[in-house]
Amino acid sequence: MSNPEFFARPSHAPPAPERLSDFARAVLEGLCAPAKRLPCKFFYDARGSVLFDEICALPEYYPTRTEIALFRDHAPEMARTMGREIALIEFGAGALTKVELLLDALERPRAYVPIDISGDYLRAMAAKLEKARPGLNVLPLVADFTKPLALPQCLSEARRVGFFPGSTIGNMDGAEALAFLRKAAAVLKGGGMLIGVDLVKDPRVLHAAYNDAAGVTAAFNKNLLVRANRELDAGFDLDAFAHYAFYNPHEQRIEMHLMSLKDQHVRVLGRGFYFVQGETVHTENSYKYTVEGFRRLARQAGFAPRQVWSDAQGLFSLHWLEC
Ligand code: AVJ
Repeated sequence: MSNPEFFARPSHAPPAPERLSDFARAVLEGLCAPAKRLPCKFFYDARGSVLFDEICALPEYYPTRTEIALFRDHAPEMARTMGREIALIEFGAGALTKVELLLDALERPRAYVPIDISGDYLRAMAAKLEKARPGLNVLPLVADFTKPLALPQCLSEARRVGFFPGSTIGNMDGAEALAFLRKAAAVLKGGGMLIGVDLVKDPRVLHAAYNDAAGVTAAFNKNLLVRANRELDAGFDLDAFAHYAFYNPHEQRIEMHLMSLKDQHVRVLGRGFYFVQGETVHTENSYKYTVEGFRRLARQAGFAPRQVWSDAQGLFSLHWLEC
């Protein structure tokens, strides 16, 4: 075997790993794993973000409307608790709706620092907010808030308060949530954090929230395959996979999967992947907490848990944590 041609990379070979997008790398790695998985952060391309907004308006999906009602009912009290002239730092800034309710109630906030990985969206959102609130100092930060953070220098004077609504923390497992909270406590030292946390409840209510009758959550889940077909030249047959979401009571989490409805081969970036009928790709976890369970976690991370705002049915909670 001395022929060098034999070892040369054939022209149809997959691209070298260093040239792959984050999404490509995650898909190739996740589909090679013995228990196939795809990270949920890739849900949010343009179409996925629209689908998520639609989920938030579904009759079965209670978290968004319950949390917004908590802001409507208690924003003045929350604002007093957070203090005046604070620097408000939002982790994973999404739609403006929630922070606007808070900004309306806050007394002379010094700055608003929305942090997000999606730079275009973040800048557009920041511009819109500055236009609507000329006095407010908006300092968008394009970063992954689960990685080490460098906050703008000018914030060193003001009391820092974190804002993390939407139960986004539910996407992290226990160890990841603890690590995130520890880092947040260090960055916000001397201030605090207001965080939205979805609660453990009747499994039928949870099940319905992730298995809506209109099929929007199914479309949101399958959008990962649509995105792979478009961006990774993949050959997923959307009818050969089913949305599969259920509550896992032992882990206190909703699990979302995509289930293969038959034995099949799918090509992705020139590579072949085999799916047995009934095999699933795990696409998301959404952890639920009891109020006490979350306070315990916050304490472990170095926060002093204080006020909790919750709806009468105990569906959703907002926690004020000091550090
Ligand atoms: C944005 C992570 C809070 O877990 O409920 C909604 C995402 N997934 N429906 C959630 C989601 C399916 C959502 N979070």
